[in-house]
Amino acid sequence: MGFYLERVLPWITDVALSGKEFDRLRAKVCAGLSGEVLEVGFGSGRNVPHLPPDVARLRAVDPATAGRRLAAKRLAATSVPVEFVGLDGEALPLEDASVDHVLTTWTLCTIPDVDRALGEVRRVLRPGGALHFVEHGLSPDATVARWQKRLNPVQNLVFGGCHLNRPIDTLLERAGLVVSPLETFYARGPKPFAYLFEGVATKI
Ligand SMILES: C[S@@+](CC[C@H](N)C(=O)[O-])C[C@H]1O[C@@H](n2cnc3c(N)ncnc32)[C@H](O)[C@@H]1O
Repeated sequence: MGFYLERVLPWITDVALSGKEFDRLRAKVCAGLSGEVLEVGFGSGRNVPHLPPDVARLRAVDPATAGRRLAAKRLAATSVPVEFVGLDGEALPLEDASVDHVLTTWTLCTIPDVDRALGEVRRVLRPGGALHFVEHGLSPDATVARWQKRLNPVQNLVFGGCHLNRPIDTLLERAGLVVSPLETFYARGPKPFAYLFEGVATKI
């Protein structure tokens, strides 16, 4: 990992994904998490303050380890034990059916082989366990989708491999997860960057 990806981007992301609207969405997506939880794409730990007390342990995976330093205050303030268990969502160092919930927020856009990572999510979830997610992705509006396609190469370059137009619901279903409930909507900001998928995907 180069200096930009390892040191600069985690800081940019930490700032870009902060504020009231993001906190409201983080609280919503973290509601209902319990037991053994895995977060894929831990980033700077911005979900940590929103973890319910029912979470027994958070195991975290992210290749950009600089995020852990940015998370220091949030880690010090939580009563939930947090363990950093790996670097890559595509190869999780966890047993089959070993977690109750998985959490991803604005991460499925960036993992290079997202199908493989979702296969891993399904593998480590216990039957009846669920992925809680809020992710940006492909807009159903043709004009916005065209802009997403146009802007993708720049987005990819600046934001460490982030794709604007991944069809999040389709990817989750393709991984064999049952997506319900699902809300889709535009958050504040330019539409190509702001089409969100928020919900729960369960391993039946
Ligand atoms: C846009 S940031 C979101 C960070 C955090 N989830 C949040 O909501 O603030 C995307 C995150 O995905 C992480 N990421 C990229 N490739 C990954 C991979 N293969 N496995 C796990 N995380 C990955 C990045 O390092 C980054 O922290």
